[in-house]
Amino acid sequence: MKNKESKIKIGRNDPCPCGSGIKYKKCCMKKVSTKKDMDSYYLKKYGIRIKTPEEIDGIRKAGALVMETHKEVEKILRPGITTDDINTLVHEFTLDHGATPAPLNYRGFPKSVCVSLNEVVCHGIPGNTVIKDGDIVNVDITSILNGFYADANYTYFSGEPSREARILVENCKESLKKGMEAVKPGATTGDIGYSIQRYAESLGCSVVREFVGHGVGLDFHEPPQILHFGRRGTGVPLIENMTFTIEPMLNFGKKEVDILDDGWTAVTRDGSLSAQFEQTVVVTKDGYESLTPFEL
Ligand code: MF3
Ligand code: CO
Ligand code: CO
Repeated sequence: MKNKESKIKIGRNDPCPCGSGIKYKKCCMKKVSTKKDMDSYYLKKYGIRIKTPEEIDGIRKAGALVMETHKEVEKILRPGITTDDINTLVHEFTLDHGATPAPLNYRGFPKSVCVSLNEVVCHGIPGNTVIKDGDIVNVDITSILNGFYADANYTYFSGEPSREARILVENCKESLKKGMEAVKPGATTGDIGYSIQRYAESLGCSVVREFVGHGVGLDFHEPPQILHFGRRGTGVPLIENMTFTIEPMLNFGKKEVDILDDGWTAVTRDGSLSAQFEQTVVVTKDGYESLTPFEL
């Protein structure tokens, strides 16, 4: 999702967002005692809808379908197919399972899945492009099942990847893992971004800033934004039953991106390779559960 704000900072020690002028931890953070209070506080302060167990179950079922769809994509992915072949498969498989592909017609997006090759960072539009041996193929699937949304992407190899491609993709996958491991009640959205950025940059990769993770479940893109970079303790404190994606995009070269004339396709400015991995997670009592699980 497009990064709408470059700065969100509501740390424990920051001024309370209610405008009292005193520290957040001494003000509104203390005013909520029951879980119900907390949920309405999050809606009012951040626009975040904390999910019920029933809603989480609905998102989990949508997530299972997303991951089944990924398994089908993996089966057909090889040099020689077109990005449209992936679109056709995702579109039909989704409909056959009683669901709707969320990307189709979303803000004018013309296809049912995003397929982003090599230097394409995200939001690649499927078409007649033939996938070649050695390409890296980011497939981003979002399904709506019974009104619930789940969102996950995976960067696949077509044939034999270059050494560079292998390193980038491995680093990106591991950076998602590092981000997910930061998720637990009491941590903040900024802790997730910090973990990802620290890991990725220590390996010489750069983190894309223009696109961020997002709340998800009852809608495609809900608050909060989940930055894949930033400072510890900033952003929104995580509480149980928040659902959101983490979806770092790592570039082998510099972090800057350009948007092509189609208004969607994001590419690295320096032409270097870009990879992405995404899961939808729910904050649990002592950590997180992935609602679109795959091995990291
Ligand atoms: N699935 C993307 C995300 O992770 C959003 C794609 S929007 C689309 O947020 F319109 F390009 F599909
Ligand atoms: Co997403
Ligand atoms: Co996605």
